Amino acid sequence: MLRLTDIGWESFAALPLEAKRPYLARPDGMPYHTLFAQQFDRGLLERLCALANRIRFINKSKEGALYLKNVLAHKRAMLYFSQPSSRTFLSHLAACQILGITTGSVRDAATSSEFKGETKEDSIRTFSSYFDMIIMRSPEQGLAEKMAWELSNSDRPIPILNAGSGKDQHPTQALLDVYTLVRSFETKGGLDGRTVVFCGDLLRGRTVRSLSYLLTDFRDVRQIFVAPPELHVPEDVIETLKSKGVEHAVVDDLRSAVKEADAVYMTRIQDEWDSSKGASAKIDTSRFKFGAEELKLLKPDGVIMHPLPRRDEIATCCDRDPRAMYWRQMRNGMWIRAALIAATFGFERSIMNCGY
Ligand code: NCD
Repeated sequence: MLRLTDIGWESFAALPLEAKRPYLARPDGMPYHTLFAQQFDRGLLERLCALANRIRFINKSKEGALYLKNVLAHKRAMLYFSQPSSRTFLSHLAACQILGITTGSVRDAATSSEFKGETKEDSIRTFSSYFDMIIMRSPEQGLAEKMAWELSNSDRPIPILNAGSGKDQHPTQALLDVYTLVRSFETKGGLDGRTVVFCGDLLRGRTVRSLSYLLTDFRDVRQIFVAPPELHVPEDVIETLKSKGVEHAVVDDLRSAVKEADAVYMTRIQDEWDSSKGASAKIDTSRFKFGAEELKLLKPDGVIMHPLPRRDEIATCCDRDPRAMYWRQMRNGMWIRAALIAATFGFERSIMNCGY
């Protein structure tokens, strides 16, 4: 088994993402550190979805919920979110609570010693002295990966879970998106062979990169990207699809894409990344919104998804339509994150086999 202690930082950082996978895995194949979508293959996704379903079921009875609350009652997790978050923070917190993990949090670096000039690296090392896992969100691409290497090579190795890194990756969001898609189509022939349409700010939306990759783990899932020319999907995403022989298209007409879609994945304009203030406001986004007209074009068993938060890219008139999956998607996040955290600590098998 490969470990992060077997390789220097420069050599590790230079590896293609898929080649990094074995360094981040537990002996049972589940991730130890969760850093990017390339760590997951179909087998792992199926195991995690099954574990999430199992936790969801066990938690329905009081006895089951109390059993779950004991599973990781001996562990503490630090939620280190130096970028704004509602759902990702709360669903990780709730996932920890389901499993009995005690949590601490820093949500604003200005309230920690970073304000006194401490580096993020030193802060994270500090957390590792008091906690058994770090769940972190950072505007800095690659910080979670660097920290995973640093901690694995420290005297107190603990797992890192990337809850959003810069414009780059958001692996746990992609897990909940796949979990939602799998559940949406499980009684309708499955996710294989479906068409997923991504729309909005595909350039800077990290959830898109992570989900696009995870969908390549399924058979013949076609991906269609719809965005204003200024916000089109980055070349590395397209290169990955090409190298895997995945059918895809880059188009600019949402309505015709919706007609072909089994799932439409809307995203907001990520204007916090604008290089000059107000730059995004100058982009014409009017044709990249989902409303009553698009709803009429969507297949009867199609689904509308959104990582949230939304602005006006999905009209509120869609909210009560049974195909609007974004509310359920949000709750699915809690279950799949509970599954991932339990698996990270090696509790997959005992939960799957427990008597509840
Ligand atoms: C996303 C994110 O932070 O990347 N939100 C989330 O985690 N649910 C999407 C976004 O902020 O637009």
